[in-house]
Amino acid sequence: MEGGTKVSAEQLEKELAELLDRETFEPPEEFAAGALVSDESAYAEAEKDPEGWWAKQAEALDWFEPWDTVLDESDAPFYKWFAGGKLNASYNALDRHVEAGRGDRVAFHWRGEEGEERDVTYAELLRDTKRLANVLKDRGVQPGDVVGIFLPMIPEVAVAMLACARIGAPHNVVFGGFSPESVKERMEFSEAKALITVDCARRKGKVAAIKPDVDEFLGDVPSIETVVVVRNTGADVDMQEGRDLFYDEAIEAASEDCPAEPLDAEHPLYVLYTSGSTAKPKGILHTTGGYLTGIAWTHRHVFDLRPDDDVYWCSADVGWVTGHSYIVYGPLVNGATSVMYEGAPDYPDKDIWWELCERYGVTLFYTAPTAIRACIKWGIEYPQRHDLSKLRLLGTVGEPINPKAWLWYWKIIGGERCPVVDTWWQTETGAIMISALPAVVPAKPGSATRPLPGVFPAVLDEEGNEVPDGEQGLLAITRPWPSMLRNLFKDPERYKETYFSKFGDTTYFVGDAARRDEDGYFWIVGRVDDVVNVSGHRLSTAEVESAIVSHPKVAEAAVIGQQDEDTGQSIAAFVILEGDLEGSEQLETEVREHVARRIGKLARPKRIIWTADVPKTRSGKIMRRLLRDIAEGRELGDVTTLREPGVMKDLEGKFADSESS
Ligand code: WT7
Repeated sequence: MEGGTKVSAEQLEKELAELLDRETFEPPEEFAAGALVSDESAYAEAEKDPEGWWAKQAEALDWFEPWDTVLDESDAPFYKWFAGGKLNASYNALDRHVEAGRGDRVAFHWRGEEGEERDVTYAELLRDTKRLANVLKDRGVQPGDVVGIFLPMIPEVAVAMLACARIGAPHNVVFGGFSPESVKERMEFSEAKALITVDCARRKGKVAAIKPDVDEFLGDVPSIETVVVVRNTGADVDMQEGRDLFYDEAIEAASEDCPAEPLDAEHPLYVLYTSGSTAKPKGILHTTGGYLTGIAWTHRHVFDLRPDDDVYWCSADVGWVTGHSYIVYGPLVNGATSVMYEGAPDYPDKDIWWELCERYGVTLFYTAPTAIRACIKWGIEYPQRHDLSKLRLLGTVGEPINPKAWLWYWKIIGGERCPVVDTWWQTETGAIMISALPAVVPAKPGSATRPLPGVFPAVLDEEGNEVPDGEQGLLAITRPWPSMLRNLFKDPERYKETYFSKFGDTTYFVGDAARRDEDGYFWIVGRVDDVVNVSGHRLSTAEVESAIVSHPKVAEAAVIGQQDEDTGQSIAAFVILEGDLEGSEQLETEVREHVARRIGKLARPKRIIWTADVPKTRSGKIMRRLLRDIAEGRELGDVTTLREPGVMKDLEGKFADSESS
């Protein structure tokens, strides 16, 4: 028996049920024996002198010039870390490894959907990064100019990000699953000067045209002067003279001489749009020195990375922050060898992930609870087809993990010998904040455990007082940390308002509810704002509402997140039609597809409830709290502030109907 534990499905059910009673899982002995961090001293050191501790971690990077101040709080909440220092992210990710003689090391074992393989070394990445950086420079891209990136999971996406970083042009990556409309919006908001994209993308044996879609909206985004097109499928696409370039031809013609620009520690590295409480996505701005310090330290110590021996795989998409921090920057800055996989977890079959773990000897694997739940549904025969014995650590991210999924992951994938780290963080935090150091902190399934050294979270009430252990409250972070967002792109007011108005300039408002137990472990409950987490993808109820309402037959919509056993949360939409139109199955499909076109497939409501009214306050604000009560079958909260209290009875009936249909 080589792979995970081999048991029958019934036996497994029984064993998992028994394990549910086990509260803590000590670090496995064999793992702990050789781990990078093997005692509590880092916690004590960071507690005593947080800035000194982070400064020590920043020294693991290569700096062109040292910093003057570790943390500048003079303009709080606009914090500065390592001010005066100069460095370059692409230099830290590539040049320094090549200069140290590690150029032949594989950075990515890339695997295409149809089984194609490409091993990309650090030296190759560096060569292409320099050439693409020169292409961008030749096209007039200057430090500070934003470059959009809309690419699938191919090595060129890392080259594109690093080429931008090399010349100080912040990148703005848009997840491949977003609609052209969303890409356009993000390009407009960030006033992108160039866009790097593909001819077509592949998804489960099908081909989706990308460049033609992009062409359709480009006319509306006059700031874009250059479009670089990676020939991914080789399909024939129109190229606009003077604006469009093929990636391969352009880098072939470009010089390989391109020294990394020494940039200020606070130079913007990227902007990444994410959903907030309003329909307009927020451009999270990350800078260079502090961000790299945070992701490099956490990637190395949370995953206990040994760059010479480990093969690491994070199954996320680069279009999310997880991909930025833990596919591209963290692993490369640490000189790791990673797997990069283009496709879906169930194509060509549902064992593809485990096939790749076996094929490349993956030792560290990082994925999302929703993916684990899908694997549980598919059955243990898929992982059992493969030898997973090289795995030595597992991680999860994106949403709270239900204990049963944790136990399944630990037992079936980890063979009971791998610690499982549940990592809590956000696009805004840049790097992992709450997670076990795997050899030191025992796991409790369902808890992200303790804050990492140098991170200071608290659970507060509405007034900002700490709530007693065991009680639920609002998660906050009471001290700045190096990888924190620095601003919202071109919107400092919204930055202050969103994160630093509730508890003041020095305490970051997270937007999650949580409780801390008597051992100091954090249990994340979920969002407290109008953000929904579908399969670890962040969506705003307001954004989905506005997409639904833009359908000509819709008068009004109210969207909520409801619990979902597969995707964590799913979207339910209460929809009011125009005039006396009646809801139908066909209209339901129409509305869903309309949302897919506006935002992306991931935002399609799972459930649509036709209704004549939704509960509103007297001032006209939709009371989503009451809709959630209905959706989750709870007793209704206070309805006295409603404009028309009668609406609730009507809705309860409608919801029950839609549930049984
Ligand atoms: C929100 C942030 C961090 C990269 C992926 C998501 C939820 C994230 C956990 C976890 C419980 C989690 C929170 C958070 N979340 N990780 N381990 N346990 N909840 O990044 O899209 O910015 O979403 O995801 O609600 O606020 P994001």
